Amino acid sequence: MILKTEMFGNGCIRKINEWEYLCCMSEDLNIIAGTKAEQYESLIPQIKGLLEGEPDIVANLANVVAALKEQFDWLWIGFYLVKPASAEASYSVKASSDKSADKEELVLGPFQGPVACTRIRKGKGVCGTGWEKAQTIIVSDVEKFPGHISCSSLSRSEIVVPVIRNNEVIGVLDVDSKELNYFDDTDKVFLEKIVALIAF
Ligand code: SME
Repeated sequence: MILKTEMFGNGCIRKINEWEYLCCMSEDLNIIAGTKAEQYESLIPQIKGLLEGEPDIVANLANVVAALKEQFDWLWIGFYLVKPASAEASYSVKASSDKSADKEELVLGPFQGPVACTRIRKGKGVCGTGWEKAQTIIVSDVEKFPGHISCSSLSRSEIVVPVIRNNEVIGVLDVDSKELNYFDDTDKVFLEKIVALIAF
C-alpha cells in the first residue's frame, strides 16, 4: 500500500509503509523511432524536464548522458571535465620533465558505457583536440585520427562537443559509435544545443 507520494524536483519519493520509501521518476523517458533529428527533437524537451529544479551538476550530467544513451544506444557517451592536473596520476605533470606541461587536464565525469580512460591532456586524442580548438570534432573513422585514444576496440567513429562557458572550455561531451561514419552535422547541431542547456 502506498501511503504518500511527495514530489522532489523531477522525481518523487513514495512512502510504501512506515519503513520503506521508493524513489521513482515522475515520468519515464519517451523513446521514439524516427530520423536522427526527430529523435533529438523528442528528447530535448525531456532533457529540459530532467534538468529543471535540480542544481547539482553531477546529477544533471548523469541524467543527460543516461537519457541520450537510452534514446540512441551509442557505445559510449560521457563528459570529461577540465580540472587541475593530478600530481598522483601515473603520468603526473609534476613528475614530468616537460616543464611546459599543462596545469589542467580533462578528467572523466558521468558516463554510460564501457570503462574509460580517466585523464586526457590538452591537445591529446579527440577529446583533448576538441578542448584545445574549442570546437566540435567529428571523426568518421577513429583509426584515421592521428593520436586517437582508444578506450574500447569497438569504437569506430566519434564526436566531441566542447562545453564552453564565459569563452572558456570547461569540459567536453564525448560520444562513440560502433558504426563507421555515424556522426554528422545533425549530431553536432543537437548535441551543441544539449550541452548549452546545462547550467554549470
Ligand atoms: N577516444 C577519446 C578518448 C575517450 S574514450 O573514447 C571514452 C579520445 O581520443 O580522446
